Amino acid sequence: VLRDARLQIARLLEVEALELIFTSGGSEANNLALKGVCDGRELKRNQVVVSAVEHPSVLKTAEALRTRGYQIDRVRVDREGRLDLDHLDSLLSDRTALVSIMLANNETGHIFPVNDAARLAHEAGALLHCDAVQGLGKIDVRPRELGADLLTISGHKFYALKGCGVLYARKGVQLTSLIHGGGQERGRRAGTENALAIAGLGEMAANAGRIAGQAERLKALRDSMEAAITGSIAGAHVTGPAAPRLPNTSSLVIPDVDGETLLMNLDVRGYAVSTGAACSSGNPEPSPVLLAMGLSRAEAQSSLRLSLGWETSKEDIDAFVTSLREVVGRLRGFKHGLGHAYGV
Ligand SMILES: Cc1ncc(COP(=O)(O)O)c(C=O)c1O
Repeated sequence: VLRDARLQIARLLEVEALELIFTSGGSEANNLALKGVCDGRELKRNQVVVSAVEHPSVLKTAEALRTRGYQIDRVRVDREGRLDLDHLDSLLSDRTALVSIMLANNETGHIFPVNDAARLAHEAGALLHCDAVQGLGKIDVRPRELGADLLTISGHKFYALKGCGVLYARKGVQLTSLIHGGGQERGRRAGTENALAIAGLGEMAANAGRIAGQAERLKALRDSMEAAITGSIAGAHVTGPAAPRLPNTSSLVIPDVDGETLLMNLDVRGYAVSTGAACSSGNPEPSPVLLAMGLSRAEAQSSLRLSLGWETSKEDIDAFVTSLREVVGRLRGFKHGLGHAYGV
């Protein structure tokens, strides 16, 4: 089962099967990439560079490395969601061990120029890790094309089970294992693999074309949803609409309403939305990703993150936009003491 799944995933990513390490998910794969490269290396290369909007499993791992003597630098992202490549270039030197740039952001859907980042990293003699968790199944994910020496994917962002992921590590990249024990995964990750979840991931990889085939439909649906929201809710606007984005993700600012209150009201109506990362909803702090992009706290606190899946239909979107308009109208009415004017 493991061998078949490994081959199916390798075929999708266009890499060799033995370059894949099964993990418990994207978080572990990101930890393994950063710590695995840095641990056991001489500290001559003692700097790690990450984008300012990475997933916490990269940002917090980098911070953990700081306590072990690494210098950690964050590359800026502008208000439109574009990675500042000149800033990245200025941070790199012969002290850089690793650069970690995500393929697509989990909150805004913005797609980053991993290829350019890899070229700059390699010119400095550093390795490039790419967290491609959000990209798989939505856009092309091929480590060699991207120039990534290490690349992370996760099962549950790809319609497979939660609790399984993969780290691609290019042949020749030295990795120290996070988990010591048996010799599984060629000594790079001890512990008996979760064969059921891995089989599911392999199956999805073999059927990736079906998922990717939804991209155009979802993009058209997402764009029409954004147009309907911004056209009918005063002040509502998309965060960084002009930069390249995943086809299914949308991050909007809806001024004059609290994102958490909006979320709870939509939840009651059966809509699972988020104010920041889908995986950390329930956290009342404004999204660090939006703050890093230069949005104000108020804007970040009035943000809504929406994502569409392969089952989302036009009828779902129409009904959602109607609900959103009603809820926003009611909440704004309360805020301005006009509840009765909105029939509540
Ligand atoms: C960009 C990104 N990286 C990493 C992860 C973590 O993956 P996992 O939940 O499989 O640990 C997520 C979300 O789950 C994500 O969106």
